[in-house]
Amino acid sequence: MLDPLVRNFAFSYAPGKIILVGEHAVLYGAKAIAMPLDQGIRVAVSQKGLKDSGGPLIKGVGPFFMGETFLNRQKKGPKVLELALEYLTRVFKAYNENVAIIIDGSLPPGCGLGSSAALSVALIRATYRFMGESLGDETLHEHVLALETIFHGRPSGIDHTVVIDGRTIAYRLFGEKAQANPIAIARELSLVVVISGPHNGTKNAVQSLSERMRRQNSAYRRIFTDLDHIASEMEQALITGQLSSVGELMNIAQGYLNALSLSTEHIEKLCVIAREHGALGAKLTGAGGGGAVIALCEGHEQAVLNAYRSMGYQSFIATVPKEPIVSTLIDTKTPVS
Ligand code: MEV
Repeated sequence: MLDPLVRNFAFSYAPGKIILVGEHAVLYGAKAIAMPLDQGIRVAVSQKGLKDSGGPLIKGVGPFFMGETFLNRQKKGPKVLELALEYLTRVFKAYNENVAIIIDGSLPPGCGLGSSAALSVALIRATYRFMGESLGDETLHEHVLALETIFHGRPSGIDHTVVIDGRTIAYRLFGEKAQANPIAIARELSLVVVISGPHNGTKNAVQSLSERMRRQNSAYRRIFTDLDHIASEMEQALITGQLSSVGELMNIAQGYLNALSLSTEHIEKLCVIAREHGALGAKLTGAGGGGAVIALCEGHEQAVLNAYRSMGYQSFIATVPKEPIVSTLIDTKTPVS
């Protein structure tokens, strides 16, 4: 006999991500490299009546508490959550006014670290668990792509693919299709992540780049071709564990991102600070125009972190693990003995 409490809520977790090279360029056919982070988002879906049992189990782990939403809209969450909720209620019969969703995590939202992809993946996984149904990879990809399209307009799919996969991938679009190949990295990467400020949304960044590109098509195409080569060189350096080379290539990629008007004065300053304090390389990650900067530190984490924090920046150390991140799920359909 199952404990009724155990039957009525479901948890899920999904990691965030960084793009080491190839953001934006990936939308124009270039190879990009994405990696999962040891920071992520957790979701609990529960019967509203059981909120007090489900809530405390997930709340407070943060530091980023994204929201708590009930389907009858007693409380409003952030925009992405509202949009996600509209999708869930439209698609899943299980979502009725008695369902509560609680979300928190260690990933700052809206900074290019894959928070929306992680939220989407964790929400869909938790939903299926809540419904007691099995979820195949294909169905998961379909739902998450639908959510990411609602959030971002025209996603390449790289964010949610790496979040679902939990491994470092080389990713390339071929028209409507995408190829994601796992990369066996020789060593884990130790990064310092710093938030330069909010960005203006991935959708807007992608849209304004396409407008600039209309004016300078051939120059932009040449840059994308170079970034594609850099991605291949980076892949080799990751496989052989030549992290100084990875760092140098990150710096070169950052130069190109600046040339594409995706960087800001702020981001450039944060990259310089990281390099001056011993980082092997530093660059923006994701949509740009704000958001997160990643610095490959390898032994200089504390110096870089202290430098950022002493200037008042929100900054933290994160790791890209060598082994795949397996999202451990508590199977709420199985009685706890
Ligand atoms: C966002 O993390 C990466 C972009 O290339 C958009 C995308 O690939 O969907 C800017």
